[in-house]
Amino acid sequence: MRKKVSIVGAGNVGATAAHWITSKELADVVLIDIMEGVPQGKGLDLREAMPVEKRDSNVIGTNDYADTANSDIVVITAGIPRKPGMSRDDLLNTNHKIMQDVVSKVVKYSPNCIIIVVSNPLDAMAQAAYKMSGFSRNRVIGMAGVLDSARFRTFIADELKVSVENVTAFVLGGHGDTMVPLPRYSTVAGIPITELMDKETIARLVDRTRNGGAEIVKYLKTGSAYYAPSASTVEMVEAILKDKKKIMPCAVYLEGEYGVDGLFVGVPVKLGANGVEEIIQIKLTDEEQAEVNRSAAAVKELVGVIGV
Ligand code: LAC
Repeated sequence: MRKKVSIVGAGNVGATAAHWITSKELADVVLIDIMEGVPQGKGLDLREAMPVEKRDSNVIGTNDYADTANSDIVVITAGIPRKPGMSRDDLLNTNHKIMQDVVSKVVKYSPNCIIIVVSNPLDAMAQAAYKMSGFSRNRVIGMAGVLDSARFRTFIADELKVSVENVTAFVLGGHGDTMVPLPRYSTVAGIPITELMDKETIARLVDRTRNGGAEIVKYLKTGSAYYAPSASTVEMVEAILKDKKKIMPCAVYLEGEYGVDGLFVGVPVKLGANGVEEIIQIKLTDEEQAEVNRSAAAVKELVGVIGV
């Protein structure tokens, strides 16, 4: 039987995630939104692309959570996006209300699914979803680090004029602004970037990565990024559906790892059929640990506001 992925939110991130999933023929997709007609229209349109793309993924759009029943994975993108001048944190209260409604319905129809949260502010929304779902922590995962490291990898590849395939990047911490890049573990064909670029260049690329979401918002004006966020989400979906045991940076609920207890923070994890199968712990320098602590404090403040 084919795998089933439901995507909550038929906006740009949700619809483009559906596009990547079907173009890779990873699963059947249910696109769900409260807007009437939009998920149905986008779902049917995408479905009609399948003969051309030679893919047998089924796609439907719906407003009814019953159609999401027994999903293997549910990706939650629902929420309002940023406008220019807004921080991700400005979305907190509105998106928390949306998250409460969505998670209760997701859990009712797919009690055994793995939830991937994409809505912002990412770490706080993932924590809200985790607490509401009652799921074990391996089954609620936030997408942020894959996107942040993809941006960092893009900028490193451009700077050094090498294939993006040669570049790996290692990031910890919260999404965007409080991201903690680890240059000594970020490599080009296995060579740490600290051997290939001076400190100033690395700092410039890190800064651009931290502000990578805002850079796109500034151009688009009416919304935020969606190609890279959805591609990053689908890399996680693929790792889970194919039980790849792939190590990637994700936001997960920490219980003492990296000195953080009871908060979602981005760390390297192994993704497989059971979701988060392992949290990879590495030894940090004092400076790196201080940055992780700062990141955790920022998440703590937000989850305090919404009481999750
Ligand atoms: C970004 C938003 C989606 O980083 O958080 O583009």
